[in-house]
Amino acid sequence: MKRNVLIGIIIIMTIALIGLLGIQLYWIRSASSVKESSFRRSVNEAMAKVVYKLERLEKRRAAEINPFPGMLNFTKHLDFSLFITPYELDSLISLELNLRGIDTRFLFGIYQPEYDLFVMEKSTDYRKQMIQIGYAYPLFSADMFTTPEYLLIYFPYERQFLLTELWGMLLISIVLIVVIIYTFSYTITILVRQKKISDMKSDFINNMTHEFKTPISTISLACEALGDKDLEGLKDSYDTYIGMIKEENSRLSILSERILQAAVLEKGEMKMHLERIDLHSIIRDVIKSIRIQVEIKDGEIHTNLRAKPSILEGDRVHLTNLVYNLLDNATKYTPRKPEIRVTTENSTHGITLSVYDNGTGISKQEQKKIFDKLYRIPTGNIHNVRGFGLGLSYVKAIVGVHRGKITVESEINKGSVFRIYLPYKQAD
Ligand SMILES: Nc1ncnc2c1ncn2[C@@H]1O[C@H](COP(=O)(O)OP(=O)(O)OP(=O)(O)O)[C@@H](O)[C@H]1O
Ligand SMILES: [Mg+2]
Repeated sequence: MKRNVLIGIIIIMTIALIGLLGIQLYWIRSASSVKESSFRRSVNEAMAKVVYKLERLEKRRAAEINPFPGMLNFTKHLDFSLFITPYELDSLISLELNLRGIDTRFLFGIYQPEYDLFVMEKSTDYRKQMIQIGYAYPLFSADMFTTPEYLLIYFPYERQFLLTELWGMLLISIVLIVVIIYTFSYTITILVRQKKISDMKSDFINNMTHEFKTPISTISLACEALGDKDLEGLKDSYDTYIGMIKEENSRLSILSERILQAAVLEKGEMKMHLERIDLHSIIRDVIKSIRIQVEIKDGEIHTNLRAKPSILEGDRVHLTNLVYNLLDNATKYTPRKPEIRVTTENSTHGITLSVYDNGTGISKQEQKKIFDKLYRIPTGNIHNVRGFGLGLSYVKAIVGVHRGKITVESEINKGSVFRIYLPYKQAD
């Protein structure tokens, strides 16, 4: 898949997700405003009923006190304290609200705006809010001569009450949104990972073709030359060509061995042949075979093999490959004058082998990835150093089956140290 297609998919999915989220929020908002207006309506209904009952109570009480009202005071209503207590008014309001499904704390007061005076109230809390944002209902509005009075009611937890009514819907929406975001990001990471793997695979195939092509073409050239009639009798040239074919052939077999190893690693079918081996002799053998490559680059290999004893239990072939891979990397990734140092040290239960180089170094982020199969540190499109990205993954697997440990320390442009700890004994 092309990089642009991937980015396109991510953008489209993000836009769709944002759109979906927006619609969801819009629905929740409109549902909450519907709830809010139905709450208001219920409060208005309840309070109209309360006002009506209050006025009726007052009339009845007035008739009891003065059955024959004179002409003079026919408009003046009774003091509230004469026909209702705050406690009774509280239960009256509470009853009407409950009848309409409103079950949240409220405060009320009977208020005269002209004198800024509460003639009756449930408590003195929230007075300001009650006046400013509470619901207000005129009392005895037919009375023309008394100072205007209002029954005020305020719900301190109105928002929360409305929200609890909506919580089920909110909860489901939040869960769904989280699920969508999670699966979306999971899909994206899988897509990105797949893309990386496919890039690495095509890199690998390119490298492999290139690595195989050179020896194959050298061999075919040498064969052609050997078939040449003019060459008959020239023993020297004959030997040179045969030597060339042998050399390239062994290179080919090393290459195919490497790829086979990777396949075996993948299947987890690595066979171990455990024996007592001398780690130092393995190191010396590998150095012998690799020294020429280092000297071509004008470099040197130093050793400081201090481990005594240097014998441990392990697989000779795999451990030889392991040391070879580390020294091969140290040489390959040091562009100029490699100064490679190999040291060994004893610890209580095993030996630590360290390989130092003064090469390109590996950044902290890359250090986590270099042990992955087929991973090579990207250097743009040109790789001037050939490789499959298999070496370190193989090394790590070998260290794993020997129950050892591998660590890397490195600084860009300064060099790297690969440390491998191997226990003396494999079985307990
Ligand atoms: N000593 C080192 N210094 C700097 N970079 C290193 C060193 N060793 C490994 N690397 C980086 O880690 C990557 C992975 O190394 P690894 O040995 O697994 O693969 P390779 O050397 O590219 O290929 P292969 O070993 O299969 O031929 C390398 O491509 C290189 O970028
Ligand atoms: Mg390597």
